[in-house]
Amino acid sequence: MQETFKLRKFEPDDLQDVMHINRVCLPENYTDMFFMDLHERFPEAFIVAEEDHELIGYIMSRIEVGLSNFGLGGLIRKGHVVSIAVMPQARRKGVARALINAAMEGMCNYKAKQIYLEVRVTNEAGVNLYKKLGLEVMRTISGYYSDGEDAFVMSKKLA
Ligand SMILES: CC(C)(COP(=O)(O)OP(=O)(O)OC[C@H]1O[C@@H](n2cnc3c(N)ncnc32)[C@H](O)[C@@H]1OP(=O)(O)O)[C@@H](O)C(=O)NCCC(=O)NCCS
Repeated sequence: MQETFKLRKFEPDDLQDVMHINRVCLPENYTDMFFMDLHERFPEAFIVAEEDHELIGYIMSRIEVGLSNFGLGGLIRKGHVVSIAVMPQARRKGVARALINAAMEGMCNYKAKQIYLEVRVTNEAGVNLYKKLGLEVMRTISGYYSDGEDAFVMSKKLA
């Protein structure tokens, strides 16, 4: 199927649109400074999706140094997906899959060896999406979200 959307890196002019998508799609919202800080530090891993000149989705990530999620020993660089969302009218067209693939490429440019993220245990769309992309559930964090819901930590090795 021909894709109707395009991906590109986030630009500062996208800030209000990305914050709008974030507020429409997720209960976890952030200040404008938080978005801009991640863009300034990790521009390769902050990607937006555009359709008919309108933003329909984004993914933003942070590169961290920590222990391997796969128990490989030692400290490694990991790409942490901080937030990903696609507008309701643009879903089930492969936008999120494309955004994650693009973010993983960006993470590799920062020499990250793994991608990981937290997802609500009841977020069927999210968990299915990440499994489809090869991420595995590594553990559960009890009461991770501010409303008390648990999170799965999901991860995958990067090439
Ligand atoms: C989760 C979300 C980002 C998926 O975006 P999307 O662009 O619709 O996802 P894609 O079209 O790339 O879907 C890829 C695969 O994910 C799975 N998936 C996506 N949405 C799904 C749903 N509602 N139910 C079950 N599986 C779903 C499917 O396996 C799908 O493949 P398929 O369409 O070939 O069956 C989107 O639903 C969203 O923004 N939700 C609200 C915000 C959110 O939950 N973010 C994640 C927080 S961790």
